[in-house]
Amino acid sequence: MSTPHIPVLLDAVLDTFKDTKGWIVDATLGFGGHSEALLQSSPNIKIIGIDRDKEALAFAKKRLEKFKDRVVFMQGDYSKKIKEALYNFDIKGVLADIGVSSWQLDSKERGFSFESDELDMRMDRDAKLSAYEVLNYYSLEELAKIFKEYGEIRDAKRVAKAIIANRPIQSAKELAHLAKRILPAKKIHPATTLFQAIRIEVNKELDELTALLDSLQEARLKDAKIAIITFHSLEDRIVKNRFKEWAKECICPEGVMRCECGGSNALGKILTKKPIIATSKEKAINPRSRSAKMRVFWMKESNGNKSG
Ligand SMILES: C[S@@+](CC[C@H](N)C(=O)[O-])C[C@H]1O[C@@H](n2cnc3c(N)ncnc32)[C@H](O)[C@@H]1O
Repeated sequence: MSTPHIPVLLDAVLDTFKDTKGWIVDATLGFGGHSEALLQSSPNIKIIGIDRDKEALAFAKKRLEKFKDRVVFMQGDYSKKIKEALYNFDIKGVLADIGVSSWQLDSKERGFSFESDELDMRMDRDAKLSAYEVLNYYSLEELAKIFKEYGEIRDAKRVAKAIIANRPIQSAKELAHLAKRILPAKKIHPATTLFQAIRIEVNKELDELTALLDSLQEARLKDAKIAIITFHSLEDRIVKNRFKEWAKECICPEGVMRCECGGSNALGKILTKKPIIATSKEKAINPRSRSAKMRVFWMKESNGNKSG
């Protein structure tokens, strides 16, 4: 079976979980590349694999058939499924390789690529909101907001106006052509940040990541590693800041004269002072690894497990 996606930072992922025994949640199972390698690396590892994309999940199920006694599959948003996993299993690791897979990006019918005749971008094809609705029905203010916040596009209002003036937009291809006319030429395709913003909105990517971190914070896992791989700065910032919060012993409000919180509130420690990035060899083999960053947090043994 040929694989439609090369797992990024695989050696670092394997190294992170090399001493883990028990259940690891792979919150973004995708094509099962990371999970397969983890299951192969140790007979003590068991996986709960979550993905909202039914086609990816079906592929992963076949791929992981030989480990079927050690794998549980869940279809849906990881923001919701993680709660089920945390409630029902003693979780010792969490891996999230955020974003879209190469296969999703490259499949023309999914509408993620610049050449697509569709305007979709849903990871879960049963979800209600697609790129078509966002581009053709959002107000000027709504469009400008997502372009600014999720695409970090400077002239967001002007871009939103140009989109509205060119409605209806029928395909990703049409949008990519329009982006070339209305956005400044750059080294990368000018539509890149525009597509990123729309994709994040359609799939609620930042809300999903925040909800995942909220659930992990609430669960207070015991002796568990949490490894998160992100592909752009907005997501990396969310992970970095949350891990910093989790590592703080003192949680008193800024400016208090004396510590009143007891000073031992850290959930554990950050294991990656700087994010792990791909080697030049990996970048050469898999160009999509160029922007990958992995941060790892260890939740200590003594965290009271609130998850039941
Ligand atoms: C980069 S791929 C993961 C690839 C995987 N690590 C592998 O080695 O094959 C990301 C996957 O996460 C899924 N995904 C992204 N956000 C999700 C979410 N909020 N809930 C569930 N699945 C999600 C996507 O559908 C996609 O299949």
